[in-house]
Amino acid sequence: MEYNRRKFISFLGKASLGTAIIPPFLKFCGNTNTSISIEEISSDHLRYLKNLPFERLSASNKDDLLLAKGLEYHTLIKWGDKISDDDNFGFNNDFICFMPLDDNNLKDGLLWVNHEYVNPLFVSNFNYRNYKNPQQHRTIEQVDKEMYNVGGTIIRIKEENGKWQIVENDPHNRRITAKTPILLNWDTPIKGKTRVIGTHSNCSGGITPWKTFLTCEENYDSFYGETEYNEKNIPSHIPSWYGWENFYNYPPEHYGWVVEVDPKDGKAQKHIALGRFAHECCTLYELKDKRVVAYTGDDKNNEHLYKFISSKPHSLKEGTLYVADIDNGKWLALDWENQPVLKNKFKDQTEVLIRAREASKLLGATELNRPEDIEIDPITGNIFVSLTNNYEKNDFHGSILKIEENDGAFDALKFKATTYKAGGEENGFSCPDNLAFDLAGNLWITSDMSGSKMNQEDGPYMPFKNNSLFVIPRYGKEAGKVIRIASAPKDAELTGPWFSPDGKTLFLSVQHPGEQTTDLNKPTSKWPFDQDNIPKPAVVAITGDLIEKFNKLNQIEE
Ligand code: FEO
Ligand code: CA
Ligand code: CA
Ligand code: CA
Repeated sequence: MEYNRRKFISFLGKASLGTAIIPPFLKFCGNTNTSISIEEISSDHLRYLKNLPFERLSASNKDDLLLAKGLEYHTLIKWGDKISDDDNFGFNNDFICFMPLDDNNLKDGLLWVNHEYVNPLFVSNFNYRNYKNPQQHRTIEQVDKEMYNVGGTIIRIKEENGKWQIVENDPHNRRITAKTPILLNWDTPIKGKTRVIGTHSNCSGGITPWKTFLTCEENYDSFYGETEYNEKNIPSHIPSWYGWENFYNYPPEHYGWVVEVDPKDGKAQKHIALGRFAHECCTLYELKDKRVVAYTGDDKNNEHLYKFISSKPHSLKEGTLYVADIDNGKWLALDWENQPVLKNKFKDQTEVLIRAREASKLLGATELNRPEDIEIDPITGNIFVSLTNNYEKNDFHGSILKIEENDGAFDALKFKATTYKAGGEENGFSCPDNLAFDLAGNLWITSDMSGSKMNQEDGPYMPFKNNSLFVIPRYGKEAGKVIRIASAPKDAELTGPWFSPDGKTLFLSVQHPGEQTTDLNKPTSKWPFDQDNIPKPAVVAITGDLIEKFNKLNQIEE
């Protein structure tokens, strides 16, 4: 049966149509946030969802992308594939976001894909494991290859006969790399520049109500290092792992930001007002007056959770950045003008934003166990935050934190925080990372157990085997349980889950398969099993009855 837009909107709730929280094409898309109440789902729909039949997948250490019964996949694009005569798909794809070119045709649009980092063994033919200080043994040609393979890709895709395909050489197809010039959305230059070179470390991201992509610079210190300050406030440079600063003299302060990309022309800007740290993601909510609230976490041990509230419609520059005091349920303003403790330490608001971690600690923000992806529950409006783990604090399995803003107001300055679900053997998952709600409000989770610790005898991750994709059904006998839906190839992580607007396809990144490889002739993984016989990160399109059942599409009649 053909997917029916009108009926589907009515399923999600008529009330949601009146509150323009997200672009029209996303109103019926579970990737982001529209508030609907449970009463708006009819009893027929609820009965259907409660009786949803499915079989869970067992944990596996097989070198393959395994899917639960009722699902199949095809590889949409993989590392090195041509997107145009000039450009190729980058390495280690992560966040995925689909945007139709025309709201009246949801089967034709632009896919944004992050390329987070590179494995030099594959990308620049450099076996870093042979060197104690790999950054001292590189050539500029190798570094240039690495710089090309991070950033992001915009590619046009179309669905024809039920199968999504890339449109090679479409004029929209382009790469953003570590060499792309990018403007700073800020009035004060940073390290003397208003325009900087490149983006990298692009982990997860988000989407704006004005139809642009957000890509977040996470472990930026790996590429150009970091500036650290001693107790006398004297700065020093901490070298990076990749050592790019030995070839290009770009300051660390130009990285660690949320970057916005215009899908139509690829123009990018870095949003200084959202602070500088290891941004995992940036999840936006549009208030009725068109101001926006942006949630973003700092994925590092003992760092923080932030939210930005704009003071002007659709601005990611004018407004206030807050950091969470979880223990007292308060958002603390990172506001130089009105916080004496910040005025004493930093010279201006720009410095507060560049050194957001230090500023947050001065305000007494709560240290968290690596806040990663953030999603807003489309039915309750609660905010879910993955806390991956904190090995040093013996939190091996992480948890999912639930934030309830006071009176459900996203611009509230007080909230309640509780643990929604703890990782561990009892709940059947460990190290939650990416989150996505589907069209019916089921929560999908990917895991990120580190490649070096997975499948280790006597290690905490042995029972979970390979990284996986899970779903927590909202309704029925299995409601609240964590069900494994996909198992990743060896050493890989499944990232960037994103549903197509019709809910029939789940786009998913398979990132860093075979990452533990030490010898290219003996890779630990060969997925996706192409003619090159080496592992390649790739984006897959998962389809099948089970996805449609979860999204409840085959019950929607004319
Ligand atoms: Fe790149 Fe926080 O995962
Ligand atoms: Ca991640
Ligand atoms: Ca997400
Ligand atoms: Ca992660």
